Amino acid sequence: MITVFGSINLDLVVAVPRLPKAGETISGPDHQTFAGGKGANQAVAARRAGATVRMIGAVGRDAFAELALVNMRDAGVDLSGVKALDGTTGLAFIGIDPAGENQIIVASGTNARVEADWLAGGLGPQDLLMLQGETPFAEVERAMDLARQCGASVFWNPAPVPREDAAACLEAVGTLVVNESEAAELAGRIGMPGEPEAFLDHMATSFRAVVVTLGASGVVAGKGEDRFRFGSPKIEAVDTTGAGDAFCGALAAALDLRLPFERAVREGVAAGALACTVTGAQSSAPLKADIRRLADQIV
Ligand code: RIB
Ligand code: NA
Repeated sequence: MITVFGSINLDLVVAVPRLPKAGETISGPDHQTFAGGKGANQAVAARRAGATVRMIGAVGRDAFAELALVNMRDAGVDLSGVKALDGTTGLAFIGIDPAGENQIIVASGTNARVEADWLAGGLGPQDLLMLQGETPFAEVERAMDLARQCGASVFWNPAPVPREDAAACLEAVGTLVVNESEAAELAGRIGMPGEPEAFLDHMATSFRAVVVTLGASGVVAGKGEDRFRFGSPKIEAVDTTGAGDAFCGALAAALDLRLPFERAVREGVAAGALACTVTGAQSSAPLKADIRRLADQIV
């Protein structure tokens, strides 16, 4: 089973002619509202990709909460570990340009008060714990510790990369997924080379699998001495929001089903590409059958 310890947001999305520079105002025609948050997105993506998923997180006691939870509920994610706290549900303000590129500002709200203790008793050796970078790093670290004590596997997508020193917690991480800029940032923080291949050489060990996603150029990945690379299938990008989360969710679901790492990455690539073809994050997370079909065609 997969447990996601992470953020739950409501995304307010505006299509703009181009993304604004600092100090600039850009107008778009209208806004759309979607359930989002990297934790929730990955939970929905893993569930649609075929896994049993439990979400640990928080929403506020406000009108945004139910809207932020509805996709997880509909997808059949177990929400018994989601607490309603006084305060505001996390909000993400997202601009999307005509090429599908985005810019995101997040108001953390109750995501800043999620606690690792909420996981207590809920993890076992067969479980996979997924974490991201939108909940307090101290709690992420404690959650990883708990997982390690229970023998559960840890899947970390440090997005955004924490400002704190993450070197120690990497010891607990069995699967690490970053994009190119996150790889550079994380590597810089701990004094390592940040180019994707060099990053892999430093981070991939016999127990830790590492993936660096390269957007339209696909991914490079490795575990121990093994290295491989997949190109991204050609797609018509409408909105790249949630592509990384769809990648993580599908990869985790495949690993949870004990598929070989290389096949699991292939399914992640397929899911990430499919997610770019639909507006929104969770709304774009693909289903297992579609992921498998496209994954078979990836070279
Ligand atoms: O990864 C995409 C997500 O980042 C959005 O859903 C938004 O909520 C932000 O957290
Ligand atoms: Na999308």
